Amino acid sequence: MELRPFSGTYLTDPAAIWRDLLDGPERVHYADDLGLWLITKHADVRNALGDSEAFSNALTLLPIYEMCPEALAIVMEIDAPPTTAAADAPTHTRTRRALRATFPNTSARVNEQYGAIVRRRVDELVSRLVARRGTVVDLVSEFAAELPLLVIVDLLGVPPEDVPAIKSWSDGQIALIWGQPEPEEQVRLARGLLDFWRYCQKMVTLRAQEGGGGEDFISKALRYRAGDDEILTENEVASFAFNLLVAGHETTSGLIAHGLDNALSVPTRWERLVENPAGVPAFVEETLRFGPAIDGWLRLTTRDVTFGETTIPAGSRCLLLLGAANRDAATFSHPDVFDPNRADVRDHLAFGYGPHFCIGAALARLEAQVALTELTAAVPGLRLAPEHITSFKPNVGFRAHNALPVFVETFAQ
Ligand code: HEM
Repeated sequence: MELRPFSGTYLTDPAAIWRDLLDGPERVHYADDLGLWLITKHADVRNALGDSEAFSNALTLLPIYEMCPEALAIVMEIDAPPTTAAADAPTHTRTRRALRATFPNTSARVNEQYGAIVRRRVDELVSRLVARRGTVVDLVSEFAAELPLLVIVDLLGVPPEDVPAIKSWSDGQIALIWGQPEPEEQVRLARGLLDFWRYCQKMVTLRAQEGGGGEDFISKALRYRAGDDEILTENEVASFAFNLLVAGHETTSGLIAHGLDNALSVPTRWERLVENPAGVPAFVEETLRFGPAIDGWLRLTTRDVTFGETTIPAGSRCLLLLGAANRDAATFSHPDVFDPNRADVRDHLAFGYGPHFCIGAALARLEAQVALTELTAAVPGLRLAPEHITSFKPNVGFRAHNALPVFVETFAQ
């Protein structure tokens, strides 16, 4: 039977399709509409994430659909060397080691090195929101999409005047790779992506010419030395910047928007967080499980891989459906219930698993936790604007809200 999950209601209600796939008789599924194998079960997704010999990351940052030749030709001009997310061993082993050495990735180190920056940016955005009390504001464009972008540009030392361009290039990259824009739009977005890459190269060259002595991530990466001769080339540092400027904000924006939506769209949830902000970290964690900002992630099989009765041939593209795995009843009790008190939440795969596990997980958690905590304190009466209908950007990988209009109220209801 033909399976075309991405041609139907997937964008509006992926959970219903995940449920059908998880409960159906097949262990893995072939989606005809994108020519992808779908892996949904928690144990299978985790094993695939953990097995980078059989499941390569080589295609991870390439478009998920067949791009028009003109756009593809432009994308092929981007000569960014593969680093972490787009690399396999041994390149991945080396670049990940360098990233771990230059980018804090435990809660303690993130808090110590980046906590003040995150809190300052949250304070600025919350104050701006409070100043708009009594009005309707879009929490996506005015808060969730802003915070992680401002934090990641601070960490990389990007000049403030370039932030709007970064935002537009980065949104364009997500739409180009994981959406399926019309050919004309593909060409426009591909040109933007090439400009973005050239921008990152120039920024890194400039930083190197200035001596690279700063405390920003780019300067630290340029100074990186390990063993006798392990360094990062300027192009590799530019490739890190190219990836981090997107990975560091589109994902976390999604997490914050999903967290706020989860909190505001069901009666009493927000009020409970206002009364007990200590519950925010658990709420954020359940948000990661329930509706991850990244629903699916691509792998390429390097050999035949068998799941039960089905063999996926070598050279196949597989979409690991992280969203579905997080709803697998074999791992999570009552998986379709949003329960911030669940004991099994830590098994979610929202940040991946194994050798490519998200480097930014601790930063993303910190940003979302500080954001929700500060908002419950400053605008306890926040509520969704009446008649709001939730909708998402057309994208099979990143689940991003189009908007989240809220009425800003500083008094608790
Ligand atoms: C990897 C999700 C935030 C940087 C990953 C992977 C996932 C993920 C699923 C695994 C990819 C794979 O297995 O190939 C998320 C989510 C986030 C988030 C849901 C927020 C809610 C961040 C942030 C940063 C970041 C804030 C950096 C500032 C990276 C990098 C990798 C990665 C560099 C590649 C690691 C590697 O391949 O070794 N992320 N991420 N992410 N993430 Fe995140």
